[in-house]
Amino acid sequence: MQIFIDTANPEEIAEANSWGVVDGVTTNPKIMLAEKGCNFRERIERIVRLVDGPVHVEVTTNDWQEMVEQAQGLASWHRNIVVKIPMGIPGLKAVNQLKRLGIKTNVTAVMSVNQALLAAKSGADYASIFFGRIGDMGYEPVQVVRDAVRILSDGQFDSKIIVGSIRQLADVNRAVLAGAHVVTIPFLLLKQMTVNPKTDETIAEFMRNWQ
Ligand code: E4P
Repeated sequence: MQIFIDTANPEEIAEANSWGVVDGVTTNPKIMLAEKGCNFRERIERIVRLVDGPVHVEVTTNDWQEMVEQAQGLASWHRNIVVKIPMGIPGLKAVNQLKRLGIKTNVTAVMSVNQALLAAKSGADYASIFFGRIGDMGYEPVQVVRDAVRILSDGQFDSKIIVGSIRQLADVNRAVLAGAHVVTIPFLLLKQMTVNPKTDETIAEFMRNWQ
């Protein structure tokens, strides 16, 4: 399985990448908004230079023809760019078209197994299941991820399930155990994954022993 970082902050990306744990990057309009004042294209071009892996960038329209146009523009910036397309009928039309043009896509804001199946069938390279947001609706996200992964595997689809909207450390473990091909994690949580109070206590004990 792969770990992506869910941020457009170059310092965070470079730091996590230096730990050897980053296979790719995901962004979205909300993540870009957090990077106040940055130039969109310059920022994405900086990110693709930082990580040797897919960088996911989202279109900003609900019209399928505009999605195709925007996707062609985004994909022309760098060979590692994967275009995020919102789930829905316009999104599926766009993905179907982009597949023919050889542009990689990630159908995003997927909340159900039905949606993941259609994303895969339409030719998406990835489907992004929003773990935290599914939980917000009162549903069990583990079940959605597990069933979607199984359906894609049984149906011999090449599409990968990315689990995003990760809010807690336990979400990472639950998503991985459910079979997610990729989990995309915010930097703060990636940092928290390194920490355990018993580890700190043990290292401090060994340092004292050495003294
Ligand atoms: C990643 O690809 C998603 O866009 C992101 O994880 C969504 O996270 P949120 O639900 O916290 O906005």
